[in-house]
Amino acid sequence: MTRPWRMKLALVGSACVWLTALALAAHDTQIASPVAGKKAGEAFKNVTTSTLKELSVDDFIASMGLISANLGLDCADCHPNAGTDKADFVIDTPRKVMTRRMVEMVAGINRTNFGGVQRVTCYTCHHGRITPATTIALDSWYDAPNVELDDAVRQDNGLPAAEEILDRYTAAIGGADRLARITSFVATGSAIGYGELGGNADFTLFAKAPNQRAILISYKDTQRPTSSWSFDGRTGWIKTPRGLLGEYELIGSELDGARFEAQIAFPGQIKQALSNWRGATTRSIGDRDFLVVQGSGQRGFMATLYFDPKTALLSRTVRYGPSPIGRMPTQIDYADYRDVGGVKFPFEYKFT
Ligand code: HEC
Ligand code: HEC
Repeated sequence: MTRPWRMKLALVGSACVWLTALALAAHDTQIASPVAGKKAGEAFKNVTTSTLKELSVDDFIASMGLISANLGLDCADCHPNAGTDKADFVIDTPRKVMTRRMVEMVAGINRTNFGGVQRVTCYTCHHGRITPATTIALDSWYDAPNVELDDAVRQDNGLPAAEEILDRYTAAIGGADRLARITSFVATGSAIGYGELGGNADFTLFAKAPNQRAILISYKDTQRPTSSWSFDGRTGWIKTPRGLLGEYELIGSELDGARFEAQIAFPGQIKQALSNWRGATTRSIGDRDFLVVQGSGQRGFMATLYFDPKTALLSRTVRYGPSPIGRMPTQIDYADYRDVGGVKFPFEYKFT
Protein backbone atom coordinates (compact mmCIF):
# COMPACT_ATOMS: atom_id res chain seq x y z
CA MET A 1 0.00 0.00 0.00
CA THR A 2 1.54 3.27 -1.01
CA ARG A 3 -1.42 5.55 -0.80
CA PRO A 4 -0.51 8.88 0.75
CA TRP A 5 -2.90 10.62 3.09
CA ARG A 6 -3.03 13.68 5.24
CA MET A 7 -2.29 13.64 8.87
CA LYS A 8 -1.33 16.11 11.50
CA LEU A 9 1.93 15.83 13.35
CA ALA A 10 2.08 18.01 16.39
CA LEU A 11 5.40 18.61 18.09
CA VAL A 12 4.47 20.28 21.33
CA GLY A 13 5.34 20.78 24.95
CA SER A 14 8.07 22.48 26.91
CA ALA A 15 9.33 19.07 27.97
CA CYS A 16 10.13 18.27 24.37
CA VAL A 17 13.61 17.76 25.63
CA TRP A 18 15.97 16.67 23.02
CA LEU A 19 14.29 18.13 20.02
CA THR A 20 14.21 21.34 21.97
CA ALA A 21 17.79 20.88 22.96
CA LEU A 22 18.85 20.45 19.39
CA ALA A 23 16.85 23.39 18.14
CA LEU A 24 17.51 25.86 20.92
CA ALA A 25 21.17 26.19 20.19
CA ALA A 26 22.56 28.91 18.03
CA HIS A 27 22.71 28.49 14.30
CA ASP A 28 25.64 26.48 13.07
CA THR A 29 27.97 27.50 15.89
CA GLN A 30 29.88 25.24 18.22
CA ILE A 31 30.46 21.81 16.84
CA ALA A 32 31.71 20.50 13.57
CA SER A 33 29.36 17.95 12.06
CA PRO A 34 28.81 15.15 11.47
CA VAL A 35 29.92 13.69 14.76
CA ALA A 36 29.26 10.04 13.96
CA GLY A 37 30.16 7.55 16.63
CA LYS A 38 32.14 9.89 18.91
CA LYS A 39 31.75 9.89 22.67
CA ALA A 40 30.64 13.13 24.32
CA GLY A 41 34.01 13.49 26.08
CA GLU A 42 35.73 13.58 22.68
CA ALA A 43 33.15 15.44 20.61
CA PHE A 44 32.75 18.33 23.08
CA LYS A 45 35.44 20.62 24.42
CA ASN A 46 34.67 20.55 28.13
CA VAL A 47 32.78 17.40 29.12
CA THR A 48 34.60 15.74 32.00
CA THR A 49 32.24 13.92 34.39
CA SER A 50 33.04 10.23 34.68
CA THR A 51 29.62 9.11 33.47
CA LEU A 52 28.45 11.76 31.00
CA LYS A 53 31.70 11.82 29.01
CA GLU A 54 31.13 8.15 28.08
CA LEU A 55 27.74 8.83 26.45
CA SER A 56 27.07 9.11 22.76
CA VAL A 57 26.63 12.70 21.61
CA ASP A 58 22.87 12.42 21.22
CA ASP A 59 22.41 10.68 24.57
CA PHE A 60 24.53 13.43 26.11
CA ILE A 61 22.28 16.14 24.68
CA ALA A 62 19.24 14.16 25.80
CA SER A 63 20.67 14.02 29.32
CA MET A 64 21.09 17.82 29.21
CA GLY A 65 17.38 17.99 28.43
CA LEU A 66 16.68 15.59 31.29
CA ILE A 67 18.71 17.68 33.75
CA SER A 68 16.84 20.80 32.64
CA ALA A 69 13.47 19.08 33.13
CA ASN A 70 14.44 17.57 36.49
CA LEU A 71 15.45 20.98 37.86
CA GLY A 72 12.86 23.11 36.07
CA LEU A 73 15.56 25.02 34.17
CA ASP A 74 16.35 26.07 30.61
CA CYS A 75 19.67 25.54 28.89
CA ALA A 76 20.39 29.26 29.40
CA ASP A 77 20.23 28.87 33.19
CA CYS A 78 23.59 27.07 33.03
CA HIS A 79 24.94 28.09 29.61
CA PRO A 80 25.17 31.84 28.95
CA ASN A 81 23.11 33.00 25.96
CA ALA A 82 21.89 29.53 25.02
CA GLY A 83 19.20 29.94 22.39
CA THR A 84 20.98 32.87 20.72
CA ASP A 85 23.85 33.27 18.30
CA LYS A 86 26.17 34.02 21.24
CA ALA A 87 25.56 30.76 23.11
CA ASP A 88 28.54 29.54 25.10
CA PHE A 89 28.20 25.93 26.17
CA VAL A 90 31.89 25.48 26.92
CA ILE A 91 32.50 28.09 29.63
CA ASP A 92 32.10 26.92 33.23
CA THR A 93 29.44 28.77 35.22
CA PRO A 94 29.05 28.19 39.00
CA ARG A 95 25.88 26.21 38.40
CA LYS A 96 27.64 24.05 35.84
CA VAL A 97 30.38 23.29 38.33
CA MET A 98 27.76 22.36 40.94
CA THR A 99 25.99 20.17 38.37
CA ARG A 100 29.19 18.21 37.76
CA ARG A 101 29.49 17.55 41.48
CA MET A 102 25.87 16.38 41.58
CA VAL A 103 26.38 14.03 38.62
CA GLU A 104 29.31 12.36 40.43
CA MET A 105 27.34 12.35 43.69
CA VAL A 106 24.39 10.49 42.14
CA ALA A 107 26.72 7.85 40.69
CA GLY A 108 28.36 7.54 44.13
CA ILE A 109 25.06 7.20 46.03
CA ASN A 110 23.92 4.40 43.74
CA ARG A 111 27.28 2.66 43.85
CA THR A 112 27.67 2.74 47.63
CA ASN A 113 24.05 2.22 48.69
CA PHE A 114 22.21 0.41 45.93
CA GLY A 115 24.75 -2.02 44.56
CA GLY A 116 25.20 0.09 41.42
CA VAL A 117 21.48 -0.08 40.53
CA GLN A 118 20.12 3.30 39.53
CA ARG A 119 17.67 3.93 42.37
CA VAL A 120 18.50 7.59 42.94
CA THR A 121 18.36 10.15 40.13
CA CYS A 122 18.33 13.96 39.97
CA TYR A 123 14.56 13.77 40.07
CA THR A 124 14.53 11.84 43.36
CA CYS A 125 15.55 15.01 45.18
CA HIS A 126 14.88 17.86 42.78
CA HIS A 127 11.33 17.16 41.55
CA GLY A 128 11.40 19.99 39.04
CA ARG A 129 12.96 22.53 41.44
CA ILE A 130 16.42 24.09 41.60
CA THR A 131 16.61 23.67 45.35
CA PRO A 132 15.04 20.48 46.68
CA ALA A 133 12.41 20.93 49.38
CA THR A 134 13.56 19.78 52.83
CA THR A 135 10.46 19.77 55.00
CA ILE A 136 6.94 18.53 54.29
CA ALA A 137 4.26 21.21 54.26
CA LEU A 138 1.84 19.87 56.88
CA ASP A 139 -1.12 20.85 54.73
CA SER A 140 -0.13 18.18 52.24
CA TRP A 141 0.13 15.43 54.86
CA TYR A 142 -3.53 14.38 54.66
CA ASP A 143 -4.06 16.07 51.34
CA ALA A 144 -4.26 14.39 47.94
CA PRO A 145 -1.67 11.60 47.75
CA ASN A 146 1.31 11.95 45.43
CA VAL A 147 0.18 10.57 42.09
CA GLU A 148 3.63 10.12 40.56
CA LEU A 149 4.02 6.48 39.67
CA ASP A 150 6.80 3.97 39.39
CA ASP A 151 8.29 3.59 35.92
CA ALA A 152 7.77 -0.17 36.25
CA VAL A 153 4.42 -1.73 35.31
CA ARG A 154 3.03 -4.86 37.00
CA GLN A 155 -0.13 -6.83 36.30
CA ASP A 156 -3.12 -5.82 38.45
CA ASN A 157 -5.46 -8.46 39.83
CA GLY A 158 -8.42 -9.00 37.57
CA LEU A 159 -6.90 -7.33 34.52
CA PRO A 160 -5.92 -9.20 31.35
CA ALA A 161 -2.28 -10.10 30.67
CA ALA A 162 -0.22 -7.83 28.42
CA GLU A 163 -0.36 -10.27 25.46
CA GLU A 164 -4.14 -10.18 25.47
CA ILE A 165 -4.18 -6.37 25.38
CA LEU A 166 -1.79 -6.47 22.40
CA ASP A 167 -4.00 -9.05 20.64
CA ARG A 168 -7.09 -6.90 21.16
CA TYR A 169 -5.23 -3.93 19.71
CA THR A 170 -4.13 -5.91 16.66
CA ALA A 171 -7.72 -7.00 16.10
CA ALA A 172 -9.09 -3.48 16.62
CA ILE A 173 -6.87 -1.81 14.03
CA GLY A 174 -7.66 -4.29 11.28
CA GLY A 175 -6.51 -7.79 12.22
CA ALA A 176 -3.22 -9.63 11.75
CA ASP A 177 -3.91 -10.61 8.11
CA ARG A 178 -4.62 -7.12 6.86
CA LEU A 179 -1.73 -5.69 8.84
CA ALA A 180 0.68 -8.23 7.38
CA ARG A 181 -0.26 -7.10 3.88
CA ILE A 182 0.93 -3.53 4.50
CA THR A 183 4.55 -3.44 3.44
CA SER A 184 5.04 0.29 3.01
CA PHE A 185 3.25 3.58 3.31
CA VAL A 186 3.72 7.29 2.87
CA ALA A 187 1.97 9.87 5.03
CA THR A 188 1.97 13.62 4.56
CA GLY A 189 0.65 16.40 6.74
CA SER A 190 1.47 19.50 8.65
CA ALA A 191 3.68 19.92 11.70
CA ILE A 192 2.39 22.16 14.44
CA GLY A 193 5.33 23.29 16.46
CA TYR A 194 6.31 24.33 19.90
CA GLY A 195 7.67 27.86 19.81
CA GLU A 196 10.12 28.06 16.96
CA LEU A 197 10.40 24.33 16.82
CA GLY A 198 8.96 22.44 13.93
CA GLY A 199 6.04 24.80 13.40
CA ASN A 200 4.67 26.12 10.12
CA ALA A 201 6.00 23.11 8.28
CA ASP A 202 4.98 20.15 6.16
CA PHE A 203 6.09 16.66 6.88
CA THR A 204 6.36 13.43 4.95
CA LEU A 205 6.69 10.09 6.66
CA PHE A 206 7.99 7.10 4.67
CA ALA A 207 7.80 3.63 6.19
CA LYS A 208 8.82 0.25 4.85
CA ALA A 209 8.34 -3.08 6.65
CA PRO A 210 9.74 -4.48 8.78
CA ASN A 211 11.69 -1.58 10.30
CA GLN A 212 12.62 1.33 8.05
CA ARG A 213 11.24 4.80 8.60
CA ALA A 214 12.06 8.38 7.67
CA ILE A 215 10.41 11.66 8.54
CA LEU A 216 11.21 14.80 6.55
CA ILE A 217 10.08 18.18 7.81
CA SER A 218 10.20 21.06 5.37
CA TYR A 219 9.60 24.56 6.63
CA LYS A 220 7.54 27.18 4.88
CA ASP A 221 10.20 29.68 5.90
CA THR A 222 12.35 29.07 2.85
CA GLN A 223 15.54 30.13 4.63
CA ARG A 224 15.34 27.04 6.76
CA PRO A 225 16.58 23.76 5.30
CA THR A 226 14.66 20.50 5.62
CA SER A 227 15.12 18.44 8.79
CA SER A 228 15.10 14.67 8.70
CA TRP A 229 14.97 11.72 11.07
CA SER A 230 15.70 8.38 9.48
CA PHE A 231 16.30 4.76 10.42
CA ASP A 232 17.22 2.25 7.72
CA GLY A 233 16.81 -0.92 9.77
CA ARG A 234 20.34 -0.78 11.11
CA THR A 235 21.59 2.78 11.41
CA GLY A 236 19.85 6.06 12.09
CA TRP A 237 20.58 9.69 11.26
CA ILE A 238 19.20 13.01 12.36
CA LYS A 239 19.63 16.17 10.37
CA THR A 240 18.49 19.41 11.95
CA PRO A 241 20.37 22.07 10.01
CA ARG A 242 19.70 24.83 12.53
CA GLY A 243 20.30 22.59 15.51
CA LEU A 244 23.27 22.29 17.79
CA LEU A 245 24.60 19.13 16.21
CA GLY A 246 23.63 19.68 12.59
CA GLU A 247 23.75 16.17 11.24
CA TYR A 248 24.70 13.10 13.24
CA GLU A 249 24.41 9.37 13.47
CA LEU A 250 22.23 7.86 16.16
CA ILE A 251 23.86 5.54 18.61
CA GLY A 252 22.97 4.47 22.13
CA SER A 253 19.42 4.65 23.36
CA GLU A 254 18.27 7.02 20.62
CA LEU A 255 19.07 4.32 18.07
CA ASP A 256 17.01 1.82 20.06
CA GLY A 257 14.18 4.35 20.17
CA ALA A 258 14.30 4.93 16.41
CA ARG A 259 14.22 1.17 15.79
CA PHE A 260 11.24 0.73 18.09
CA GLU A 261 9.28 3.51 16.39
CA ALA A 262 10.08 2.10 12.95
CA GLN A 263 8.90 -1.37 14.04
CA ILE A 264 5.61 -0.23 15.54
CA ALA A 265 4.84 1.80 12.42
CA PHE A 266 3.78 -1.71 11.31
CA PRO A 267 1.67 -2.68 14.33
CA GLY A 268 1.28 -6.32 13.24
CA GLN A 269 4.74 -6.91 14.72
CA ILE A 270 4.21 -5.01 17.95
CA LYS A 271 4.63 -8.12 20.11
CA GLN A 272 8.03 -8.88 18.60
CA ALA A 273 9.28 -5.30 18.96
CA LEU A 274 9.94 -5.83 22.67
CA SER A 275 10.21 -8.76 25.06
CA ASN A 276 9.25 -9.57 28.65
CA TRP A 277 5.80 -7.97 28.26
CA ARG A 278 4.15 -7.17 31.60
CA GLY A 279 0.86 -5.65 32.76
CA ALA A 280 -1.86 -4.76 32.33
CA THR A 281 -2.39 -2.14 34.96
CA THR A 282 -4.59 0.95 34.97
CA ARG A 283 -3.16 4.44 34.59
CA SER A 284 -4.81 7.70 33.74
CA ILE A 285 -4.18 10.40 31.21
CA GLY A 286 -6.13 13.46 32.31
CA ASP A 287 -9.37 12.17 33.80
CA ARG A 288 -9.57 8.93 31.80
CA ASP A 289 -8.25 5.49 32.67
CA PHE A 290 -6.19 3.44 30.23
CA LEU A 291 -4.94 -0.14 30.15
CA VAL A 292 -1.18 -0.05 30.35
CA VAL A 293 1.43 -2.64 29.39
CA GLN A 294 5.22 -2.50 29.24
CA GLY A 295 7.99 -4.32 27.41
CA SER A 296 11.79 -4.31 27.41
CA GLY A 297 14.35 -4.03 24.65
CA GLN A 298 18.12 -4.26 24.59
CA ARG A 299 20.51 -2.26 26.78
CA GLY A 300 17.97 -1.04 29.33
CA PHE A 301 15.51 0.27 26.75
CA MET A 302 11.85 -0.05 27.70
CA ALA A 303 8.47 1.27 26.60
CA THR A 304 5.11 1.73 28.29
CA LEU A 305 2.00 1.55 26.08
CA TYR A 306 -1.42 3.01 26.95
CA PHE A 307 -4.49 1.46 25.33
CA ASP A 308 -7.98 2.95 25.31
CA PRO A 309 -10.18 0.42 27.14
CA LYS A 310 -13.20 1.29 24.95
CA THR A 311 -11.63 1.04 21.51
CA ALA A 312 -8.53 -1.10 22.32
CA LEU A 313 -6.49 1.42 20.27
CA LEU A 314 -3.02 2.64 21.24
CA SER A 315 -3.25 6.14 22.75
CA ARG A 316 0.26 6.74 24.07
CA THR A 317 3.74 5.26 24.14
CA VAL A 318 6.42 6.42 26.53
CA ARG A 319 9.80 5.00 25.68
CA TYR A 320 12.70 5.17 28.08
CA GLY A 321 16.39 5.15 27.29
CA PRO A 322 18.88 4.65 30.11
CA SER A 323 21.36 7.35 31.14
CA PRO A 324 23.72 7.80 34.10
CA ILE A 325 21.39 10.39 35.63
CA GLY A 326 18.05 8.65 35.13
CA ARG A 327 15.80 7.24 32.42
CA MET A 328 15.21 9.59 29.50
CA PRO A 329 11.53 9.58 28.53
CA THR A 330 10.07 10.29 25.08
CA GLN A 331 6.29 10.38 24.85
CA ILE A 332 4.15 10.02 21.75
CA ASP A 333 0.38 10.45 21.85
CA TYR A 334 -1.76 9.08 19.03
CA ALA A 335 -5.24 10.36 18.22
CA ASP A 336 -7.81 10.76 15.46
CA TYR A 337 -7.70 7.15 14.22
CA ARG A 338 -9.17 6.79 10.73
CA ASP A 339 -9.78 3.87 8.46
CA VAL A 340 -7.42 3.54 5.47
CA GLY A 341 -8.29 0.49 3.36
CA GLY A 342 -9.53 -1.49 6.37
CA VAL A 343 -6.66 -0.57 8.70
CA LYS A 344 -6.91 2.15 11.34
CA PHE A 345 -4.11 4.71 11.44
CA PRO A 346 -3.67 7.60 13.87
CA PHE A 347 -3.86 10.89 11.96
CA GLU A 348 -2.44 12.89 14.80
CA TYR A 349 0.85 12.37 16.63
CA LYS A 350 1.95 14.45 19.53
CA PHE A 351 5.64 14.19 20.30
CA THR A 352 6.96 15.27 23.71
C1 HEC B 1 21.82 22.57 35.52
C2 HEC B 1 22.85 22.99 34.57
C3 HEC B 1 22.72 22.62 33.13
C4 HEC B 1 21.65 22.79 32.30
C5 HEC B 1 20.26 23.31 32.64
C6 HEC B 1 22.09 22.41 30.96
N1 HEC B 1 23.40 22.03 31.00
FE1 HEC B 1 24.57 21.61 29.41
N2 HEC B 1 26.15 21.24 30.62
C7 HEC B 1 26.09 21.25 32.00
C8 HEC B 1 27.31 20.67 32.52
C9 HEC B 1 27.65 20.45 33.98
C10 HEC B 1 28.11 20.34 31.40
C11 HEC B 1 29.48 19.65 31.45
C12 HEC B 1 29.24 18.16 31.67
C13 HEC B 1 30.48 17.35 31.98
O1 HEC B 1 31.54 17.94 32.24
O2 HEC B 1 30.37 16.10 31.97
C14 HEC B 1 27.35 20.74 30.24
C15 HEC B 1 27.83 20.64 28.94
C16 HEC B 1 27.10 20.94 27.81
C17 HEC B 1 27.60 20.90 26.46
C18 HEC B 1 29.03 20.60 26.03
C19 HEC B 1 29.78 21.91 25.77
C20 HEC B 1 31.24 21.66 25.43
O3 HEC B 1 31.62 21.81 24.26
O4 HEC B 1 32.00 21.28 26.35
C21 HEC B 1 26.56 21.20 25.64
C22 HEC B 1 26.60 21.26 24.12
C23 HEC B 1 25.40 21.42 26.47
N3 HEC B 1 25.78 21.28 27.79
C24 HEC B 1 24.15 21.70 26.00
C25 HEC B 1 23.05 21.93 26.80
C26 HEC B 1 21.72 22.14 26.30
C27 HEC B 1 21.35 22.16 24.83
C28 HEC B 1 20.92 22.33 27.37
C29 HEC B 1 19.41 22.55 27.40
C30 HEC B 1 18.63 21.44 26.91
C31 HEC B 1 21.75 22.25 28.56
N4 HEC B 1 23.01 21.98 28.17
C32 HEC B 1 21.27 22.43 29.85
C33 HEC B 1 25.06 21.78 32.77
C34 HEC B 1 23.82 22.12 32.31
C1 HEC C 1 20.29 13.44 47.37
C2 HEC C 1 19.56 14.56 46.88
C3 HEC C 1 20.05 15.19 45.57
C4 HEC C 1 20.22 14.58 44.37
C5 HEC C 1 20.03 13.10 44.01
C6 HEC C 1 20.62 15.61 43.43
N1 HEC C 1 20.68 16.80 44.07
FE1 HEC C 1 21.18 18.60 43.24
N2 HEC C 1 20.96 19.50 45.03
C7 HEC C 1 20.57 18.88 46.19
C8 HEC C 1 20.49 19.87 47.25
C9 HEC C 1 20.08 19.58 48.69
C10 HEC C 1 20.87 21.10 46.67
C11 HEC C 1 20.95 22.46 47.36
C12 HEC C 1 22.33 22.65 47.86
C13 HEC C 1 22.49 24.00 48.52
O1 HEC C 1 21.60 24.85 48.40
O2 HEC C 1 23.54 24.21 49.13
C14 HEC C 1 21.15 20.83 45.28
C15 HEC C 1 21.57 21.79 44.39
C16 HEC C 1 21.78 21.58 43.04
C17 HEC C 1 22.18 22.59 42.10
C18 HEC C 1 22.46 24.05 42.40
C19 HEC C 1 21.20 24.84 42.20
C20 HEC C 1 21.44 26.32 42.28
O3 HEC C 1 20.91 26.94 43.21
O4 HEC C 1 22.14 26.84 41.43
C21 HEC C 1 22.25 21.99 40.87
C22 HEC C 1 22.59 22.67 39.57
C23 HEC C 1 21.93 20.60 41.06
N3 HEC C 1 21.65 20.37 42.40
C24 HEC C 1 21.91 19.66 40.07
C25 HEC C 1 21.66 18.31 40.27
C26 HEC C 1 21.69 17.33 39.21
C27 HEC C 1 21.95 17.62 37.74
C28 HEC C 1 21.42 16.13 39.77
C29 HEC C 1 21.42 14.75 39.10
C30 HEC C 1 22.65 14.42 38.43
C31 HEC C 1 21.22 16.37 41.19
N4 HEC C 1 21.36 17.70 41.45
C32 HEC C 1 20.89 15.38 42.10
C33 HEC C 1 20.25 17.56 46.35
C34 HEC C 1 20.33 16.59 45.38
